Amino acid sequence: MKNSARILSGAQIAEAVKREVAEEIKILDYRLGLTVVRVGEDAASAVYVGNKVKTSAELGIRSEHIHLPAKTSQAELLRVVDELNARADVDGILVQLPLPKQIDENFVLERLNPEKDVDGFHPVNVGRLSQGQTALAPCTPAGVIEILKRSGIEIAGKHAVIIGRSNIVGKPMAMLLLQENATVTICHSRTVNLTEITSQADILVAAIGRPGFVRGEHIKTGATVVDVGINNVSDADFARELFDETELEKRLATIEKRGSTLVGDVNPKEAKMKAANFTPVPGGVGLLTVAMLMKNTVQAAKMRRKTD
Ligand code: GUN
Repeated sequence: MKNSARILSGAQIAEAVKREVAEEIKILDYRLGLTVVRVGEDAASAVYVGNKVKTSAELGIRSEHIHLPAKTSQAELLRVVDELNARADVDGILVQLPLPKQIDENFVLERLNPEKDVDGFHPVNVGRLSQGQTALAPCTPAGVIEILKRSGIEIAGKHAVIIGRSNIVGKPMAMLLLQENATVTICHSRTVNLTEITSQADILVAAIGRPGFVRGEHIKTGATVVDVGINNVSDADFARELFDETELEKRLATIEKRGSTLVGDVNPKEAKMKAANFTPVPGGVGLLTVAMLMKNTVQAAKMRRKTD
């Protein structure tokens, strides 16, 4: 069967967002400050934080990376957050997740000044978002909206189905799509007749954390499929099920060389045959996340400094 989906590349869209943010920064009469706090040695977090720091520098944001040891106590982390809350030169604070076991994530996130919460994870921002008020919105789902809009994909009146109900992606994604006037359904691990529901979706967002979970049967012909998953696949046979001849060789070489290859929650070979539009992994939504963080940092600074 012939592949038909248009691939929605995140690269150009992320560059456009960053260009616009850089223009906004240029005309500010103060220097923006973003502080990223990382606790412990999670390998993926180290890569994500590195990207955030690098992109900040590219856009002219003064960034600071506070790296605390894995055995840091909750009280110590809260002290760091309190200091950052109090500093006038810090516009955005991001506590990289996951945190070590001894620390209660929600307790720490609630300690942030909501005006500096560039991740949009504080209950005040979550509540504001759900009320349709101006809020700092979580970066990954905000990036999905950016990709859809800038690719000319209509959201209003469409049935959007999200697989996954996390606080970081699934739930805020639902709120943002609702705000764009989509009809929204959230599915999760306890959903009965998943395929029946997802195959009605005009826009299908996969955020479950299971490589290649979404198959052709889940997808309505002509749908837009957004893949938010980031998984590592090391099994060559599984890779053969996921990738068509345009990609397979490269993927197998990556597994050979690095031990694994990056795969989303959607089976790309099957999605390409059913969907009209499809975001790839890597190179799709992930690229927007950091760009949206930069946008949130500008928004946070403008809102807070106006009221200072
Ligand atoms: N860990 C995985 N995704 C994220 C994110 O968007 N923000 C933070 N702070 N940590 C994460």
